[in-house]
Amino acid sequence: MKLPKLPAELTDFKPEVGLILGSGLGFFADDRIEVVGRLPYGEIEGFPVSTVPGHAGQFVFGHLDGRRVICMQGRFHFYEGYRMEQLTLPIRMMHKLGVQSLFVTNAAGGINPGYVPGDFMLLHDHINFLGTNPLIGAVVDEGVRFPDMSEVYDKDLRHQIREWARSQGIALQEGIYLATTGPSFETPAEIRAFATLGADAVGMSTVPEAIVARQLGMRVIGISCITNAAAGISSGPLTHEEVAETADRVRHQFADLLAGAIALS
Ligand code: HPA
Repeated sequence: MKLPKLPAELTDFKPEVGLILGSGLGFFADDRIEVVGRLPYGEIEGFPVSTVPGHAGQFVFGHLDGRRVICMQGRFHFYEGYRMEQLTLPIRMMHKLGVQSLFVTNAAGGINPGYVPGDFMLLHDHINFLGTNPLIGAVVDEGVRFPDMSEVYDKDLRHQIREWARSQGIALQEGIYLATTGPSFETPAEIRAFATLGADAVGMSTVPEAIVARQLGMRVIGISCITNAAAGISSGPLTHEEVAETADRVRHQFADLLAGAIALS
């Protein structure tokens, strides 16, 4: 990955924390970050441009609680038709810029019967059900060929986040995230199958980015917003509107949780 030419205000800015803002969290970059500069994806050679409405499609650089952060305001999904290596290019770019810790957020359907829409879930581990892997193909410039995945989501930092959330009275689940390609939602039979596999939540993102970040030796934290009960868990059809509505309803709590987690990193 060749670094893009950065605007003048960013040439001396060395981000240490990377942030992927999922559904409903795009406002975090505007509301919580003291912005130093922005870089639209369209200005980066070889970069995909997000096709999802409401995803702005830019990097936002700035300060959060004394930390230098780079946020993806708008992310890429496999179901948009991008190749795995395209959609994980931002992680390689963040790594080249010096990012050591990556915080990935997403919206997910709750499989665990104890979860209710509006809950947050710290990713304890994941199941890659995408049928492919972002590391397939030519050996890229950095990283190990066969990276270890026995602790994708940093154990010490998870512990600190759990303790902090408890001290703040923020309810936080911790569970296994299973990634499917989407874009169709799952069938009830698939959700029952995923439950027997040990999944607590299901979504259409995060796993490719987390795999590449671990390949590059970054510390990773994942947080899901449980936006709906997964198919067959509650009656009635699933809609993107329900997902967006829940994500929007709890976005300020999600932002507080994320900011608190970053401050611990
Ligand atoms: N399934 C897959 N992805 C999702 C869901 C779901 O129920 N909710 C939010 N993202």
